[in-house]
Amino acid sequence: MKSLDLNYREDELGILRLAVENTREAFVTIDQDHKILFFNRAAEELFGFGRKEVLGENLDVLLGEQCIKGHKEAVRGFLEGEKKNFIHDEREFIITRKDGKTIPVVFSFSVAQLNGRHYFTAIIRDISELKLCHDRVMKSERLAELGQLVTEIAHEIKNPLVLIGGFTRQLKKVVKDEKSLAKLDVILEEVERLEHLLNELKELYLPREVDFSVFDVNTLLEELYLLAIDDCKNRNIKIVFESDADEALVEGDREKIKQVFLNLIKNGVEAIENGGVLRIESRKHDNYVEILVTDNGPGIPEKHQAKLFSPFFTTKKHGTGLGLSISKRIIDQHPGFSISLDTVKGKGTTFKVTMPLDDSVEQ
Ligand SMILES: Nc1ncnc2c1ncn2[C@@H]1O[C@H](COP(=O)(O)OP(=O)(O)OP(=O)(O)O)[C@@H](O)[C@H]1O
Ligand SMILES: [Mg+2]
Repeated sequence: MKSLDLNYREDELGILRLAVENTREAFVTIDQDHKILFFNRAAEELFGFGRKEVLGENLDVLLGEQCIKGHKEAVRGFLEGEKKNFIHDEREFIITRKDGKTIPVVFSFSVAQLNGRHYFTAIIRDISELKLCHDRVMKSERLAELGQLVTEIAHEIKNPLVLIGGFTRQLKKVVKDEKSLAKLDVILEEVERLEHLLNELKELYLPREVDFSVFDVNTLLEELYLLAIDDCKNRNIKIVFESDADEALVEGDREKIKQVFLNLIKNGVEAIENGGVLRIESRKHDNYVEILVTDNGPGIPEKHQAKLFSPFFTTKKHGTGLGLSISKRIIDQHPGFSISLDTVKGKGTTFKVTMPLDDSVEQ
């Protein structure tokens, strides 16, 4: 009976040892003099130290100065029987690995008393992923709150704007004095700018669902070209539209894609000095179509390129900086679509939108 008991205990210990060795939680055991006695595989991975480097050493090798001070005080408090001790707490810490990288972790402790001495085991879990996830949730909650706030503010501003615009237009009909008329024009321009801003903010924070249908992107581009001609003429800009096929059918949200090209054309026009050229080209390939919007403006400096698609990045006095970020979001909502740019200082910029052709129809 006795030998059976012994076997059972040995098995049990063996199983426990392997369980602790194979768990994802780091186990670090110290004695009451802070000497490291046990360090499992997960602890090696977490701290970046091999067992040979730490076993028998003082806990100082693992923990930073601040942390070790608190730890020693906590152990002392426990040994002296202080009521408030750390044993049953779960605590968050930031540990510094051997390679200097910092990792957020959660610690819990267990104490064993054997032959009058205490042994403390810290069970440590890496919570970097949990933290990331938590941050993402916080961010999306913040965005949702922001969206709500923006819609409410937009709603409050819209009505007075409509009134200001309406009354200004009425006044323009009766006012004869040139100076006053010029002032009314400025008011109207500013009202339109604010309306544009409100619409863009709404699109950014509360976008309409994508409504997919099959449409001909070349017809869409032709419409936009005709729409832009007058504005270009006024600015002494030559605008060219070329397509190498009658039709290029794609599947997407026509209104949203129209907004993308409007933004690209508007940016191109705004980048061009008097007398420049804006080129819109549609090139059809086997199973995709590329649309290029090219200007011969100043190009985009390298230091700006990484920020172009971020909301509110603008170099313009009256820009919202939302045009490209909204465009990128719209493109990302369309499977298989992409947007890229090519820019040369002093020569100009090409924005390229690539879209898969709709394969349900022979083209
Ligand atoms: N074709 C281009 N040539 C040179 N710079 C460009 C071009 N397109 C975009 N940019 C740069 O990218 C910035 C961001 O463009 P985006 O369309 O997002 O905002 P914006 O044009 O400044 O404002 P909004 O679109 O609201 O009028 C611009 O301010 C400009 O500096
Ligand atoms: Mg723009």
